[in-house]
Amino acid sequence: MNKKPTTPLLKNIAACFDWLDEDDLIPKEPLIEAPPSPVFTLDGRKIVSFSSNNYLGMSRRPEVINAARNALSKFTMGTCESRKLGGNIALLEALEARIASFKGEEAAMIFATGLLANVATIPGLIDAEWYCNKFYGKDWSKEPGTIFSDSLNHRSIQMGIKLSHANVVKYHHADMDHLEQELASCKSNNKLIVSDGVFSMDGDLAPLPELTTLANRYQATVMIDDAHGTGVFGENGRGVAEHFGVEKDISIHMGTLSKAVGAMGGFVATDRKVIDFLKSTASGYRFTSSLPAEQAAGIICAIDIMENEPQLRDKLWQNVTFLLNGLNDLDIPFNYQWSPIIPLHLGSAHKAYRAEKLLLDRAISCIAVVPPLVANNCSRLRITVNSTHTQEQIEQLLAGLIVAEREIGFSQPGNSQQTWEEFSKRSPSYITKT
Ligand SMILES: Cc1ncc(COP(=O)(O)O)c(C=O)c1O
Repeated sequence: MNKKPTTPLLKNIAACFDWLDEDDLIPKEPLIEAPPSPVFTLDGRKIVSFSSNNYLGMSRRPEVINAARNALSKFTMGTCESRKLGGNIALLEALEARIASFKGEEAAMIFATGLLANVATIPGLIDAEWYCNKFYGKDWSKEPGTIFSDSLNHRSIQMGIKLSHANVVKYHHADMDHLEQELASCKSNNKLIVSDGVFSMDGDLAPLPELTTLANRYQATVMIDDAHGTGVFGENGRGVAEHFGVEKDISIHMGTLSKAVGAMGGFVATDRKVIDFLKSTASGYRFTSSLPAEQAAGIICAIDIMENEPQLRDKLWQNVTFLLNGLNDLDIPFNYQWSPIIPLHLGSAHKAYRAEKLLLDRAISCIAVVPPLVANNCSRLRITVNSTHTQEQIEQLLAGLIVAEREIGFSQPGNSQQTWEEFSKRSPSYITKT
């Protein structure tokens, strides 16, 4: 092994690592034999996972794997180049056309990860004039645009915002009064509102009807990151915008291919001209190699299945309903919301790790989510439900949760005055039909 020079920076990293490690704050990465289906083997034991975003079990579908395998033989491992410099193969364009038709948009572009889609797209959209001026001398007002970002947006959105030249307004989580105040006092001509569709750590939905009304009133453009909504929400699985009936009011639909689609990659779908502009100018597209062909082939097949087999979504919502009813029957506190992401709040990271361990002792994997993924003292178990779970597996989870509730106790969520019965009667029809 190479011996490194001992620099102050490396010494500092070692000291920080030891400081976290002494307090058990370096999360382990459990080594699993294969991704959960939802069962996986850990140290020879069969464990049921409630931590996977493989909402529809798509990553294991034989048709998807075969499509990917065939493309791998034909197109080999990687494209070894960015799209504009020789790495553009027909399968990638076919995937973009498939995503555009699925989302009902003119065009789409794909990225190697969902994180990269946000990191590339946000500065690409807001800095259009800056780009034209910097590289090609176009006249411009030198007035930066303003980005309005929900305070609980995913880190990849925050990273994209940091790379931009825009003014930034962080509005309180889902607080449309605060957003309106900020929009009303904003002097920028170019305004971009960015929000998660489903908040990844809380499972709640952005209030899109109110948000799009404000955007229309103040002439702001809306970009929604529907990483967890795509394939899951809406009658046809087109996402949270379909769920709320506001698809046409969202200008930029962003999503990942690593969750319900079961593969990897990210996308943006919108008007053709915006896509063509981003493909020419966004650094996160031009300075990196593209998604490999086998992923593209598998993803096209997965989207076909998602469209043709609505029963997968029905099964997912049946499972969500079964779990929420079970939590209610057992008096385990939870937020009343329709979502396959169900957070159970514990507060400190140590309590969350303890709850994770109690569940693992009962052959359930439900990963503790701690800072920096959530704010200090907001650690939690983040349960994700998949269509592939059986009712017996959900009962096994509930049995483990009672033990955790008795030993540690979950915090009471801020549900309004309504009871679970009242709330559950008002669920969207595509969820209750299950
Ligand atoms: C809301 C949101 N956006 C973007 C991403 C990044 O997606 P990917 O894992 O495909 O890079 C995630 C994944 O955690 C997410 O939850």
